[in-house]
Amino acid sequence: MIKENSHTRTFITDINLPAMPGQFVMIWLPRQAEKPFSLTTTHPFSFTVMTVGPFTKILNTALQSGDRIWYRGPFGRGTYTPVPGKTILVSGGCGCVPLYCLAQTLKSKTSTRVIIGAKTKTELLFVNRFRRLGLKTVITTDDGTAGLKGFTTNALEAILKTEKIACVYGCGPDPMLKTIADLCRAHHVRYQLSLEALMKCGFGICGSCSRKGKLVCLDGPVFTRWPDTL
Ligand SMILES: Cc1cc2nc3c(=O)[nH]c(=O)nc-3n(C[C@H](O)[C@H](O)[C@H](O)COP(=O)(O)OP(=O)(O)OC[C@H]3O[C@@H](n4cnc5c(N)ncnc54)[C@H](O)[C@@H]3O)c2cc1C
Ligand code: FES
Repeated sequence: MIKENSHTRTFITDINLPAMPGQFVMIWLPRQAEKPFSLTTTHPFSFTVMTVGPFTKILNTALQSGDRIWYRGPFGRGTYTPVPGKTILVSGGCGCVPLYCLAQTLKSKTSTRVIIGAKTKTELLFVNRFRRLGLKTVITTDDGTAGLKGFTTNALEAILKTEKIACVYGCGPDPMLKTIADLCRAHHVRYQLSLEALMKCGFGICGSCSRKGKLVCLDGPVFTRWPDTL
């Protein structure tokens, strides 16, 4: 296990799980719940949990090294796909997880930058992981305690105004993703966004993850258009 920050841990398993960047697994703990998590790495399979509620709290506080967890997956037909040219990854909160999985597969890491945002310095995630892969990092914090003061999308807008970008990959809170979609449309740049939704089955049966008629678990979680325009 790796402690990423005060409320986020990465769990490393003892198996490999071939998967495409953006795919997710359903993690199950008996008598608790089953919830979706992206893959952080595939070889070995690891996943990262940020505490936001009861299930993530149990994973992050009760689970010990050597304990057993159950999973189903990987799921999701909509995955991140490589686009040649200069690309930007935009990460908010634990959105860094599938983007880090993508970053490991990129052939030319020097043509890719990652913008990592958080409310404050202590909540930043995966900065050193991305740097170790060779990606240039741009940090933003809402309160200015690290990097640029403001949102990831402010930093993205500044880049889109001055450079020709082939594709923007995003994962994070919905308002951030919506702004990325708007900015990319305005600048005629392709984008791929990993969306979140409430999930139960994880593979297209229950309908709980439906957004504008698309099933996030099956058709996504990565989409090349914002749900309003799917
Ligand atoms: C495809 C996918 C990949 C994910 N990958 C990761 C990951 O790598 N790491 C990680 O920490 N989390 C990830 N999540 C989110 C994770 O599944 C939720 O944080 C978890 O289910 C929360 O469970 P809980 O019981 O702790 O909290 P809950 O009580 O279920 O939720 C706490 C709060 O978070 C909100 N919330 C919970 N789940 C979602 C959701 N799916 N979409 C929007 N808001 C939600 C709730 O509305 C509530 O306000 C992912 C979600 C999806 C759909
Ligand atoms: S989670 Fe059941 S259909 Fe998507």
